[in-house]
Parts: sequence; structure tokens; C-alpha cells
Amino acid sequence: MKIMVTGANGQLGQELVKQLTVSEHELFAYTKTELDITNMDQVNAICEEIQPHIIINAAAYTNVDGAETNEELAFQVNATGQRNLAVAAEKVGAKICYISTDYVFNGQATTPYSEYMNVDPLGVYGQSKYAGEFLTQTLNTKYFIVRTAWVYGEYGPNFVKTMLKLAEEKSELGVVHDQVGSPTYTVDLAQFLIELVQTKKYGIYHCTNSGTCSWYEFAQEIFKLANKDIKVNPLTSDQFPRPAKRPAYSVLGDLSLRINGFGARRHWKDALNDYINKNNNL
Ligand SMILES: NC(=O)c1ccc[n+]([C@@H]2O[C@H](COP(=O)([O-])OP(=O)(O)OC[C@H]3O[C@@H](n4cnc5c(N)ncnc54)[C@H](OP(=O)(O)O)[C@@H]3O)[C@@H](O)[C@H]2O)c1
Repeated sequence: MKIMVTGANGQLGQELVKQLTVSEHELFAYTKTELDITNMDQVNAICEEIQPHIIINAAAYTNVDGAETNEELAFQVNATGQRNLAVAAEKVGAKICYISTDYVFNGQATTPYSEYMNVDPLGVYGQSKYAGEFLTQTLNTKYFIVRTAWVYGEYGPNFVKTMLKLAEEKSELGVVHDQVGSPTYTVDLAQFLIELVQTKKYGIYHCTNSGTCSWYEFAQEIFKLANKDIKVNPLTSDQFPRPAKRPAYSVLGDLSLRINGFGARRHWKDALNDYINKNNNL
């Protein structure tokens, strides 16, 4: 299979490239400099030239707070950029995979969100990602939309790295405890994406590691596994105001994974343990 990956320099993009490089597939990976997905002509030219069987779009505008003041750019990348890839994919008969987010939900639920529940994003980032989902569903006959959450991994900045860095600088830290979700290790997410896109099991999926926690509990586990002696104090979201409102509860249920016969994701604590062990020089 010829698999094209956009946003190849991102957290998830780099992990996909790492895993696909050693797979039996032919990989065509593009960083933002090599392919700007907002450039329709460039997207079309590349797709026509390589005739991919599968396109995984890992490119995104991911600055949740920045999106509040950069609405145009967020929509340009997350919606229109995806539209460009969607149209090009359909033209060459490729399957397309769009990565989306738990931030499409408003967080008022008290049990895990299923894939086909109504969305209601609280901020511009979530709205722009939902627009990308909508365009994909409208324009593609062979699509996968995979929502994920709280992503961390070897590449790029993320919450785990931030916490470990803060542990070097401080002896005490406040972390919000009233936002609950599920952390996701890029290694597990990329593995699932590569498995999924080879099937014809099109539709919407939720993929995170299993189990849930608050950011406060996530931070505590990071410090425990990394043997960092730092006091963590629980904060409310009101005590840590941010430009974009976050969903209070954004646990993604895995109904689609189960009914389509995909294996269960490992627990977030096991995935985190693996990550910390591999990166104990952080
Ligand atoms: N990180 C999370 O916690 C999280 C949670 C839920 C869902 N997601 C979704 O998961 C996917 C992967 O996220 P991630 O954490 O890997 O994000 P990331 O590290 O920010 O990577 C996104 C990549 O896209 C690139 N990009 C931005 N604009 C582009 C454009 N116009 N054309 C081509 N590439 C462009 C970025 O390049 P520059 O850095 O040079 O701008 C970056 O390399 C995204 O769809 C995101 O919405 C992430």
C-alpha cells in the first residue's frame, strides 16, 4: 500500500513515520514545509503524482488557546486543509483518515461519549476540528475519523514532558483536578491507526488508552513513575484560567473499536510506565 502522511513533523506524525518506515508499506511523508495542506494546488499535484491508497492527515492547528484569537488559521488548517485532502483523496480513490479530538464534546456528560453522540464544541479549536470531520463525511466515500485525547509521546512538547521539566525546577505545583479524560500514548494510537486504515471498516472511532483520570491524577502518576519528589496540589479550572474553555469530562468510549473487532487499548498507566521507562533521561 502507498500510505501518505501529512503533518509528518508533529507528535503523532513522527510516530506514524517511525512505525510505517519499518512496515511493508510504501511511505510518503510530508512535513508542513514539504506540503502545506492549505494549498489546494500543492495537495492535488502531490496526490496525483503519487496516487496514494491511503492518506493519514496528522497535520493540524493544535494550539487550543491560540485558536480563540486565530479563528481563521484554525479553520484554514483543520477544516479547509482537510477539505483539500478529502477532495484529492476522492479524486484518486484513496481512503482518508482524519484525526480529531475529544474537544468536539461539551464535557457535560458523566459517562463516556460514544462515537455517534451529538457534538457541541466549547471553543474555536473544537469547532474547527468538527468542521474537518463534517467535510470529511460530506466529501469522502472511504473515510475514517479517529478522535483521540490528551496525546503525549516521544516527539514534540506535551503534558508529560512539561510536568517532568517543572519537577526539575519546583518542589510544589498546582494541577487542575476538575477535568477528566484519558491520556493517549502516540505509540498505541499510531499502531491502531495503521491497523485501521488497512481495513474497510469506515466510520468514526474513539481511540485513547483505557482508564480515566484528571490532569491532577495524571501528573501524580507521572511523578510517581519518574521518581520525582514534588508536591502536587489540586486546582479547580477557575483557579487556572485559560483563554479556551475545556470540557470538564471528555472520556471517549470505545464502542466502535469493540463492535468492529479491534482489541482493547492498554490502560493509560501501563502506557505511561512504558513511555517513562523508555525516556528516563527526560
Ligand atoms: N495533542 C493532543 O493532545 C491532541 C488531542 C486530541 C486530538 N489531537 C489531534 O491529533 C492530531 C495530531 O496532533 P499532534 O499532537 O501530533 O499535533 P502537533 O504536534 O501540533 O502536530 C501537528 C503538525 O501539523 C503541522 N501543520 C500545521 N499546519 C500545517 C499545514 N498547513 N500543512 C501541513 N502541516 C501543518 C505542524 O507543523 P508546525 O508545528 O510547523 O506548525 C505540526 O508538525 C491532530 O489532528 C490533533 O488535532 C491531538
